[in-house]
Amino acid sequence: MSVVGARPQFVKLAPIARAMAEREVEHIIVHTGQHYDVNMSDVFFEDLGIPAPDEHLAIGSASHGRQTGQMLAAMDGVLEKYQPDWVLVYGDTNSTTAGALSAAKMHIRVAHLEAGLRSFNREMPEELNRIVTDHLAELCLAPTQVAMDHLASEGLADKSVLVGDVMTDVLMRVRDQVISKPLPAGIDFEDGQYRVATLHRPSNTDDPERLREIIEAIGALDVPTVLLAHPRLRSKADDAGVDLEAGNITLAEPFAYPDLVRAVMGSAGVITDSGGLQKEAFLLRARTATVRTETEWIETVNLGWNTLCPQPQDIAAAFSETAETDTYAKPYGDGNAASRVVEKLVHFPPA
Ligand code: UD1
Repeated sequence: MSVVGARPQFVKLAPIARAMAEREVEHIIVHTGQHYDVNMSDVFFEDLGIPAPDEHLAIGSASHGRQTGQMLAAMDGVLEKYQPDWVLVYGDTNSTTAGALSAAKMHIRVAHLEAGLRSFNREMPEELNRIVTDHLAELCLAPTQVAMDHLASEGLADKSVLVGDVMTDVLMRVRDQVISKPLPAGIDFEDGQYRVATLHRPSNTDDPERLREIIEAIGALDVPTVLLAHPRLRSKADDAGVDLEAGNITLAEPFAYPDLVRAVMGSAGVITDSGGLQKEAFLLRARTATVRTETEWIETVNLGWNTLCPQPQDIAAAFSETAETDTYAKPYGDGNAASRVVEKLVHFPPA
């Protein structure tokens, strides 16, 4: 049983669902409802060919405790109904923690996909979700060697396995599908003439002064930026009276996955605080400014493609630097992580 709820989890679910079907494994999909807008949820299922969820918990937005608690309450009945051999949880959202905790309490095996990522910043809700979930899981499925090292240093080496990154699986497939397509609607520029930006982390959106400074810094860049506005960003900017179309910024709705991939492929760079997009930009070899103090995907920085920008005024310099880049490194695996995940689950415990 896969438990998902937020946009990046649908992307990770796509290659897993495909690998499960190829292996003829019975696969139940539970959608918690954490993301519910059509362009935050439904389009991912449609575009990526993911089967419709077997159960939809319809929890929606609320404070962390309420949201997680409502998911826990709803999961009991779902687990009783299906009695899965495994519950597979993805990444680091509140849906991840709720899925893992409810299953572990009912003595159902939990596997954590994308285990071992750490920012070492406990102010991020995601960091707490990662730590709790790795420790609850019976099997930690790590995307990178760095993640394996983190798991080992927390005493979790015996239950950890390096499978590679499933987002690489889906990205490679979609890249090949969109490579000759025109730029998506919402980008009124030529290839190479614009950058793509996303912002949604509470540390960037929830402090009005910081949000204003980031938007001003992006708006002042020499290359125009298409800002794909997550609903959290729109609502926080409205509350703070921040104009998201300041200066050189064009505003657009969040993109469907194939459109995002095409947009990044054609871009002159990416500005983001998203974990997934940092990695996608790296795999598509787009230079990235990450508006955070740290990253879980440190390989992107070490290989010269990603620059951490703790302060908004650091963003411009991230694009003017001519850092040495390594174009051929493959720290995220070979694009076959999902089938490795399914094999691990089917053959557990290892002989
Ligand atoms: C969540 C994850 C984050 C992940 C992100 C991807 C947690 C703690 N955070 O953050 O790790 O990177 O998803 O997007 O789980 N909203 C809508 N429509 C939607 C979804 C959200 O309007 O379909 C608005 C609501 O006002 C909501 C706010 O966005 O309160 C935040 O949504 P939420 O799911 O709580 O967190 P994200 O910021 O999306």
